[in-house]
Amino acid sequence: MPTQKTNQSLKTEQPIGIFDSGIGGLTVAHAIHQLMPAETLVYFGDTAHLPYGEKSTAAIKSYSLHIADFLLKHKCKIIVIACNTASAIAWKVVHDHVGSKIDVINVIDPVVNAVVKSKAKHVGVIGTNNTVKTNVYADKILEANNMLQVSSLATPLLAPMIEEGFFNNKISKTIINDYLSRPKLKNIDSLILACTHYPLIKSEIESYYKGKATIIDSAEIVAQHVKQVLQNKKLLNKGEARKHHFFVSDYTQSFEKSTRFFFKGKIKLELQNIWKAF
Ligand code: DGL
Repeated sequence: MPTQKTNQSLKTEQPIGIFDSGIGGLTVAHAIHQLMPAETLVYFGDTAHLPYGEKSTAAIKSYSLHIADFLLKHKCKIIVIACNTASAIAWKVVHDHVGSKIDVINVIDPVVNAVVKSKAKHVGVIGTNNTVKTNVYADKILEANNMLQVSSLATPLLAPMIEEGFFNNKISKTIINDYLSRPKLKNIDSLILACTHYPLIKSEIESYYKGKATIIDSAEIVAQHVKQVLQNKKLLNKGEARKHHFFVSDYTQSFEKSTRFFFKGKIKLELQNIWKAF
């Protein structure tokens, strides 16, 4: 977890910077907006490099550092890495790079804290190949409480399926049921949705478990954590939010259409190729 920092030069009206590999992180942006409507958001979706779940560690670190610089240029008062893959692989480099300027929040630590405080005994984790390969959830949960059991399963088809708008239909049901019925997830009592795309299929996952497992979706937990950090630093905005910006590194109409699912409202995507200069 980031250490407490105080930076006198930060102002409450500065925006919250949020980034993801694509538009999945809009689930976190939406939760932040719901909880703190007075905050201005600057979102960056790296749609040109999607999916991070299949990229090399070096590439994810490099993309994340460039995006962090972009958000700093936009004078963000805090950076939220709204992507589990980038949180697992690049949080430390981004945190070290940004240094004492601002806090960098990942989506993993707040969820781990919530899980170890819950009644969970056998925790399932589903996420991208990269997130599951790092074993970050199991390591952190077991470090906090080694009496818990953690079973992680890579579910690489889910993010592209959701990104294409395939959910709440027969195809998504078949794929979801196939993954969730794997022996690895047998007998879990809680399931962490370790990918910011997955809140969109939460209801399908809930209907698979029929109450036998608690589904843990990070969006709200992370939003609460961001609020707490801003409150501790006296950086919550007191006035009104200014214009939000939603940047993407590659633009297609399908991204624009999908943003409505993720943000529950129409937002205008702005194309911003931050890689050109490098
Ligand atoms: N949203 C990303 C995450 O939370 C997954 C999508 C991707 O593979 O880029 O891990």
